[in-house]
Amino acid sequence: MRIDVFSIFPEYLAALDLSLIGKARQDGILDVRVQDLRAFTTDRHRTVDDTPYGGGAGMVMKPEPWAEALSTALSGGTAEGESGAGERPTLIVPSPAGEVFAQATAYELAEKQQLVFACGRYEGIDERVLEWAGENFDVRPMSLGDYVLNGGEVAVLAMVEAIGRLVPGVVGNPESLVEESHSDGLLEYPVYTKPSLWRDRPIPEVLLSGNHAKIARFRRDEQLRRTAERRPDLIAKLNPSTLDKADRAA
Ligand code: ADE
Repeated sequence: MRIDVFSIFPEYLAALDLSLIGKARQDGILDVRVQDLRAFTTDRHRTVDDTPYGGGAGMVMKPEPWAEALSTALSGGTAEGESGAGERPTLIVPSPAGEVFAQATAYELAEKQQLVFACGRYEGIDERVLEWAGENFDVRPMSLGDYVLNGGEVAVLAMVEAIGRLVPGVVGNPESLVEESHSDGLLEYPVYTKPSLWRDRPIPEVLLSGNHAKIARFRRDEQLRRTAERRPDLIAKLNPSTLDKADRAA
């Protein structure tokens, strides 16, 4: 998968060199290209912002550098092994005004050949950039949640990690992706490791029973209990057909 990121703070994205995503880059599974938006300016001051039409606080990102930058993401070929033919790249614009990014979004985007992230700062990017980009990209304004960050960079780190780890080969043991929070609409069950007794606290006894059916039932009940307690909104959204008989009794 090819991932292009444009930002006026490319150093923010240095964390993409670390851990599993960094390893996947080294292994050639993820072709991540971070570029400084200011490299696409033409004036002496490398200006990327200007005052908003209509007045109001703050500054707006100018369209010209964005058009130059995004055009380079359309050329230069795709990562080795990908044809790049046919599929339009997806342009993700992090914004508190976007659709909420969720695990289902991560699964959907993990299937794409090329993702392009445009990190806005200040009050945002001139809206015409998104309209213009729609000619060549699938444009997706995306929010991490109902709070405001100073810019898109932190959101890109979160989204690239959530998406990248679903790309085959990035996580060594794909089984670890199966039983995790949100994969089945529920929160994850609690986990324990040695020692079995720590500071007067034993682990739940069933986990020592060796009875796999009982352990599975315990974990499922814990998932349901936790989700009902912490995220009742998720319980309301559950598809009843995903619940078994014992779930419904609980
Ligand atoms: N930029 C500013 N706030 C944001 C948010 N909540 N999600 C994504 N990008 C943002």
